[in-house]
Amino acid sequence: MSNHKQNRRDFLKTSGAAVAGSSLPFWFQIDPASAYKFNAANDRPVVGCIGTGSRWNAVGPNAMKYGDVIAVCDVDAAHANKAHDKVRDIQGKKGNNKEVAVFEDYRKVLDNPDIDIVTIVTTDHWHTKIAIEAMKAGKDVYCEKPLTLTIDEGKQIIKALKETGRVFQVGTQQRSEMGQRFLNALGVIKEGRLGDITEVECVIGGVDPSGSIPVADVPKTLNWEKWLGQAPLTDYRWKAGEGEKGRPKTRGHYEFRWWYEYSGGKMTDWGAHHVDIAQWGIGMDHSGPTQVVPISVEHPIPLKNGMPTKDDAYNVASKFEVQCNFPNDVKMTIKSDGRNGILFTGTKGRMFVSRGDLTGKPVEDLKDNPLASDTIKKLYKGRQPGDHMRNFFECVEAREQPISDVMTHHRAITTCHLANIAIRLNRSLEWDPKTEQIIGDDEANQWQSREQRKGYETNA
Ligand SMILES: NC(=O)c1ccc[n+]([C@@H]2O[C@H](COP(=O)([O-])OP(=O)(O)OC[C@H]3O[C@@H](n4cnc5c(N)ncnc54)[C@H](O)[C@@H]3O)[C@@H](O)[C@H]2O)c1
Repeated sequence: MSNHKQNRRDFLKTSGAAVAGSSLPFWFQIDPASAYKFNAANDRPVVGCIGTGSRWNAVGPNAMKYGDVIAVCDVDAAHANKAHDKVRDIQGKKGNNKEVAVFEDYRKVLDNPDIDIVTIVTTDHWHTKIAIEAMKAGKDVYCEKPLTLTIDEGKQIIKALKETGRVFQVGTQQRSEMGQRFLNALGVIKEGRLGDITEVECVIGGVDPSGSIPVADVPKTLNWEKWLGQAPLTDYRWKAGEGEKGRPKTRGHYEFRWWYEYSGGKMTDWGAHHVDIAQWGIGMDHSGPTQVVPISVEHPIPLKNGMPTKDDAYNVASKFEVQCNFPNDVKMTIKSDGRNGILFTGTKGRMFVSRGDLTGKPVEDLKDNPLASDTIKKLYKGRQPGDHMRNFFECVEAREQPISDVMTHHRAITTCHLANIAIRLNRSLEWDPKTEQIIGDDEANQWQSREQRKGYETNA
């Protein structure tokens, strides 16, 4: 083991005390003793990939630009084996022909002391447990959005982050990429060109109802019980060909997003991106709404006390509109219908931003009057935007928190979780962003966490 790793492991034993003793805000409290350089070929960070389904095909190859993958892990052996072959192929072309281990159990990845970094690209309901255990095992983490299934999970991840001082990037790449449209939009706001923001609208899409999906045999390669993890044991369901982009409809791969047991529907799937940018734009990325009001909602199957009454069809909201009122008097609307993107309205004008567009009078004005040279750099914590994964690896080296840090993501995804609680219970919620409690509604407040199946509890 190289010296830097020895230092990192030694540091781990005392990291809790080191972090607690510093006077810096905790999200900057990363002990430089745990830093290491990764520019030298022999000293590139060593990566383990946990969850190797659809999205990993982007995350895995991106991570291989900056680190060397030595292990892949998935509870579906078909996905893990495919990832193994892809890693061997990509790294082989760069002259790295080292063997790549294949695991079903993520703990095997965490147990390997040579692994510095893990990517977590599993279903949403597994993110928190694996992320906490990874940090406790001394790994830096790149974890896909939405980081959590519940508000309580976010609090637990923050506790573990505080105690371990690991570097943690959430996979909300809109903060770094997309031609920097989102950063430019934030620059426009930062320079006061929209005046005071009064309203922001996030359009994030809806979900087509699935109809009844029959019980099916679990694919031989898939460990269904492990895939279910903290969620209740239930039948596997699958129907050929009619899901998003022609995918099969299933209680399983990819389509897990449309079941409350494993995710939060479009509210968290796309809310994790747009509500994140919107909350950053209105300066509430370390706070949250004080009131969350369901305006309208359609669920594909009836809910009773917020719980689905049938188990054979997608159960997340197919259409919704929720209004969130923030302490700085900004009104945020999160809705399914309309043109996907974010519309900011201020006292001096309006601006629309999406992955493909950045429009509005204040944007046109940039041609003659561009943003100040350091505006974007300041927003991006002094680094060069363009590649979300590179930002993570640079921060691993510098021992800083990356651009999509746990604190701000927790705040944005809390807004989405609150919006889901409000539409599931079909009533307005009062939220205290300081104490992070739902006020005057004990039943709703209990929805901050969910029952987790024995053996799969998250424990920070
Ligand atoms: N940043 C983005 O733009 C973006 C885009 C797509 C997906 N995502 C996120 O990526 C994550 C994965 O989405 P996907 O589309 O790849 O889904 P997917 O179902 O195709 O892949 C998830 C994989 O995780 C595996 N898995 C589940 N539990 C596991 C465990 N305990 N250990 C190891 N592997 C496990 C599954 O078997 C599957 O192969 C989701 O959280 C999703 O929101 C982000």
